[in-house]
Amino acid sequence: MAGVRRMDLGEALALGPGWRHACHALLYAPDPGMLFGRIPLRYAVLMQMRFDGRLGFPGGFVDAQDSSLEDGLNRELWEELGDTASAFRVERTDYRSSHAGTRPRVVAHFYAKRLTLEQLQAVEARAPQAKDHGLEVLGLVRVPLYTLRDGVGGLPAFLENSFIGAAREQLLEALRDLELLEPGSISNLKIPPSK
Ligand code: APR
Ligand code: MG
Repeated sequence: MAGVRRMDLGEALALGPGWRHACHALLYAPDPGMLFGRIPLRYAVLMQMRFDGRLGFPGGFVDAQDSSLEDGLNRELWEELGDTASAFRVERTDYRSSHAGTRPRVVAHFYAKRLTLEQLQAVEARAPQAKDHGLEVLGLVRVPLYTLRDGVGGLPAFLENSFIGAAREQLLEALRDLELLEPGSISNLKIPPSK
């Protein structure tokens, strides 16, 4: 999306008929696991490798047949993640931000939903059976939230990937605002200020 601008939901919903709306969701769950028996994972956070080779969040375009943004989002989650996405519903209360790009005219709404680790693992296990798997979705990935001793491995290296639209900024904001990182570790990352 060229010329991306952040706006609040009211402004986004008043953009008019020339705009397409898309919704994407960050799914996360507390994870007590330890990498190498010593590095706390803290949370399992899901992203996906998209058909265009970029990382993004599950979700997609809201259709005229969808009765709300969230209906469209939950339908897209079902298409991209499979039937385990029916075990939960992303609601307006999970909404976090909107970003509009002018070429093409797309406004992307972002949500974050907390699951149990069992729910998230069920999504991962069943995702290869989803309608869009191998097509629009090339696979789910977890985001490493730690930084290894070399100061690069883990989250800093992950952030060097190519991201679709506002996905990198959405990820960093969610990690900060939902307090998913180890306290103090966030100051070393280049995170955009709160708006
Ligand atoms: N932040 C901002 N914009 C995003 C994000 C994000 N995190 N993720 C995706 N977008 C943009 C994409 O650039 C795209 O313009 O939102 C739009 C829709 O999102 P997708 O998930 O790509 O859409 P989806 O409905 O899942 O399917 C892709 O789009 O281009 C068509 O024909 C293509 O059928 C395909 C469909
Ligand atoms: Mg999609």
